[in-house]
Amino acid sequence: MAARTLPFFLTLLFLLQLHSSAGQNAVRAGYWFPGSGLPVSSIDSTLFTHLFCAFADLDPQTNRVIISSANQAQFSTFTRTVQQKNPSVKTLLSIGGGDADETAFAGMASQAGSRKSFIDSSINLARSNNFHGLDLDWEYPSTTTQMASLGLLLAEWRVAVANESSSTGNTPLLLSAAVFRSSDYYTINYPIRAISNSLDWINVMAYDFYGPGWSNVTGPPAALYNPGTTMSGDYGITTWIQAGVAANKIVLGFPFYGWAWTLANANNNGFFAPTVGPAISNDGDIGYAQINNFIAQNGASALYNSTFVSNFCYSGTTWIGYDDKESISTKVTYAKNRGLLGYFAWHVGADDNWALSQQAVTQDLQDQEEAGEEDEAEQAYPSLDPYNAKRRHWRRTKLGF
Ligand SMILES: *[C@@H]1O[C@H](CO)[C@@H](O)[C@H](O)[C@H]1NC(C)=O
Ligand SMILES: *[C@@H]1O[C@H](CO)[C@@H](O)[C@H](O)[C@H]1NC(C)=O
Ligand SMILES: *[C@@H]1O[C@H](CO)[C@@H](O)[C@H](O)[C@H]1NC(C)=O
Repeated sequence: MAARTLPFFLTLLFLLQLHSSAGQNAVRAGYWFPGSGLPVSSIDSTLFTHLFCAFADLDPQTNRVIISSANQAQFSTFTRTVQQKNPSVKTLLSIGGGDADETAFAGMASQAGSRKSFIDSSINLARSNNFHGLDLDWEYPSTTTQMASLGLLLAEWRVAVANESSSTGNTPLLLSAAVFRSSDYYTINYPIRAISNSLDWINVMAYDFYGPGWSNVTGPPAALYNPGTTMSGDYGITTWIQAGVAANKIVLGFPFYGWAWTLANANNNGFFAPTVGPAISNDGDIGYAQINNFIAQNGASALYNSTFVSNFCYSGTTWIGYDDKESISTKVTYAKNRGLLGYFAWHVGADDNWALSQQAVTQDLQDQEEAGEEDEAEQAYPSLDPYNAKRRHWRRTKLGF
């Protein structure tokens, strides 16, 4: 009896697995960093499958990965803290970031010995601080040589991660990297084969297309589409897929922040309007919660443009481009429709009472229901879907699983 039902059961499990992988954004991720001011204990981890803790640093003297003493307390308890609300959330320690010294990364990656120092110390640091994975944010390798070095680093990192897992019996660490919006960094190609063979996935930073620091006209900062230009998420994702990275190794990034400009003329307040510099903050960076405050306090006009998939608002000479709920929803659906692994947000501390994080999950669940895949949605987020919870109860009672 058991011998005959086992193959059937395994087949069933296999089919369920296939069904499951076809239907959902398997990665619903967000980055957190201490400078955001959001305490780790305030993160609503139920809205995420993966959380990135940013950033660990590269010590340029030793080529080892370190956690600064200022971050030590929050980073070492990060996993335990976010797992209190969601025991199945996975955490990754992110290394580097936009403010890190890119020449230190280039130097480290150029020599076998320094790559080994980096790799071994990163694995030790992840394990000793209870992270489930590591994420490389080298922004950006910018020469052919540096891209080749990155390829070697990733390949050696994967071997070391596999070795550590087999010699300790631990589940292998996850390995990801945050990458430029397109598969080339201004014509310098990323090492596609090493990325495909060595990483669990890439986080494509599909934002910062326009900002007051590098554009003297307003623009959709994280447009999903921007016909006739290369300044869009869709363009970037398409380059990655055409270069040979499987869609299911690609995670689409969107911003929980916007860019604020000062308009040259308050009456010229659409996209591509002339500006005279940043507004609101020194560089124009403004989080989503602050944008909502700005709109409320100034009675600002707020609009959604579905051609670009971008929101903007303005009052007087202040103009802000950003992603509101419509943009986030459309991008979540896009990620699923293109067969991507999922989405991530930079950064969770800029959300407004979890409105955008929640919107992303709600859209994802709705897309699954429309595709007739309620079961997976309900398994991932039972509390959000009482109807499915009832059905699950019925199925358990009647069918015994
Ligand atoms: C393999 O992993 C073990 C245990 O973590 C470690 O001692 C050893 O140095 C590793 N070997 C290589 C080649 O990385
Ligand atoms: C804005 O930038 C464009 C392209 O860099 C440049 O041609 C133009 O002169 C600039 N306009 C102003 C008003 O600075
Ligand atoms: C979005 O903005 C562009 C540029 O202003 C405009 O051409 C387009 O018609 C707008 N799309 C919608 C749907 O309003």
